[in-house]
Amino acid sequence: MTAFPANIKSMLTRRFALIAGMLMLASVTVSACAVQETNTYPVEIFSEMHYAQSFRMQEPPRLAPPADSVVFVSAGDASQVLDVPDKRERKYDPAVAGNLYRVNCSVCHGDLGDGEGKAKRHLISDESFYAITNGTAYGAPPSLIDSKLEQDVMVSFVTSGAIVMPSFGKLLPEEDIRDIVNYIFDSENGLR
Ligand code: HEC
Repeated sequence: MTAFPANIKSMLTRRFALIAGMLMLASVTVSACAVQETNTYPVEIFSEMHYAQSFRMQEPPRLAPPADSVVFVSAGDASQVLDVPDKRERKYDPAVAGNLYRVNCSVCHGDLGDGEGKAKRHLISDESFYAITNGTAYGAPPSLIDSKLEQDVMVSFVTSGAIVMPSFGKLLPEEDIRDIVNYIFDSENGLR
């Protein structure tokens, strides 16, 4: 150590004191989260660290903002902000409507609307919870191509739902439901 100038020596001593202090603190913390029997639970292996705001490392990782993101300044002037397009005048587009159909309906009614969706075998399974508690399995999702419902009646049916059939009025805006039903009835680019 003789080769070290005095200022480096004192720096090392300070660093040593700091490390020793941190170790002592750590041992206190460790003993505080060792097995306890006097807390809420009969035996507690970890202390309830979620009460400590500082334990951020227990939180799930967060997404960092994109590297080239910029600070949001303004939504534009009032006339722009208040200019909300009237969706009731939205034009039917089979590409958009088909997508809505596939996302919301095909899992039960099938991509082709024939009732052959992926959920069918679970619905009609004799091992389903429904079958076990009721004695018989639920019915298969009906074919929408063969449905006898009028177009407007179908819109109301889809809006209100039934038993397994969800009430889409709570899930989709009216114009999306109309689009989907248009798509079901569309004989050119839709399902019929
Ligand atoms: C979770 C499965 C499921 C989803 C998702 C689903 N349905 Fe259904 N749907 C059913 C079942 C099952 C029935 C029969 C009624 C019942 O048991 O609830 C039905 C009945 C219907 C009927 C009545 C047909 C008739 O002739 O009686 C229409 C129309 C219909 N669904 C359209 C849709 C549309 C449109 C969507 C998407 C927006 C959709 N369904 C999403 C399961 C589903």
